[in-house]
Amino acid sequence: MADSEHKTVVQQEFTRQADAYAVAPTVSDPERIARLVKAVAPASDARVLDVACGPGFLALAFAAHCREAVGIDLTDAPLAIAKTKLKVLRPMSRNGGETWGTPNISNVRFVRGDADRLPFADGEFDVAVCRFALHHMEDPGRVLREMARVSRGTVAIEDLVTSEHRDRAEYQNHVERLRDPSHTRALAPSELIGLFTAAGLEVERLYSGETAQTVELWLGNSQTPRERASEVRALLERDAREDLSGMRPHQKDGQWFFRHRTLAALGRRMNQ
Ligand SMILES: C[S@@+](CC[C@H](N)C(=O)[O-])C[C@H]1O[C@@H](n2cnc3c(N)ncnc32)[C@H](O)[C@@H]1O
Repeated sequence: MADSEHKTVVQQEFTRQADAYAVAPTVSDPERIARLVKAVAPASDARVLDVACGPGFLALAFAAHCREAVGIDLTDAPLAIAKTKLKVLRPMSRNGGETWGTPNISNVRFVRGDADRLPFADGEFDVAVCRFALHHMEDPGRVLREMARVSRGTVAIEDLVTSEHRDRAEYQNHVERLRDPSHTRALAPSELIGLFTAAGLEVERLYSGETAQTVELWLGNSQTPRERASEVRALLERDAREDLSGMRPHQKDGQWFFRHRTLAALGRRMNQ
C-alpha cells in the first residue's frame, strides 16, 4: 500500500500514535467537530467522504446529518479504532440510543486507501472533508485535486496553519517534524487558499481557530524519543524568548504551553 518512504513513516507513526491520538482532547473536542459539520451543512441525502479519517471523528459526526459517510485512511490502526466505535455504537443506535449526537450509525463505513489516489469515481460524493491531515501529505495540492474530483459539491479542509513569514513558518515546521517525522509541512493560510484556487475550487468560507497545547502532553501523544523531545523543548524555549514562529510558547504554573493556529477553508466546484 505505501508507495513512498514517507507513507511508510506515516503508517509507522499513526500505528504507534493511534490510541493516544484517538482520545487527545484537542482532536476529539466535540465543539470543534460540530462547528465544521455546521459550516459544511450537508444535505440530508448527501454522501460525505472523510479523507485521512484517522479514528473517524468527522465521518461519525457527519453521518448524523447525511445519507452516507465514508472514511478513508492509509493506516490500519486508526481505522481499527474507527471500526470498533461502529461496533459499539451500532447496537446502541438500534436500541434507539443517541450517542455523540449520532442517532443512526448504520450509514458509515471505513476503508483503507490513499488520499493521493482516491478509489472513487468522479463526483461520487457531495462533500469531501479532510481535517488535521494535509500537513502529513507529501503533495497537498494533489490531495485537494483528488477531493475536488470526487466531490460534486463542497470540499472542506481544516488544518494547522503557520505564519505567513517563511522563516517563522519553517521554524514551526522544523519543530513539528522533530516531534513527529510524519509531519511534512503545515501551510500558511495564503498557501492553503492558493491550493483551493489551483484545484479549481471557489473558496466560499474561511474561519480560523486556535488550540492551546501542553508541550508534555503533545510530546507524549507522539511518543517522541527522548533526545528529539529535548531538542523540541529547547527550540520552544528559545521561541518563547525570541518570538520565532508564532507558536507563542509560554510557561504557566510550571507547565509549558504553546498554541496551534488552525484554518478551516470551504470551497465548491465551480459551474455546479
Ligand atoms: C492527524 S491524523 C487526522 C485524523 C482525522 N482526520 C482527524 O480529524 O482526527 C492524520 C491521518 O492522516 C492519515 N494519512 C496520512 N497520509 C495519508 C494518505 N496519503 N492517505 C490517506 N491517509 C493518510 C494518517 O494515517 C492519519 O490517520
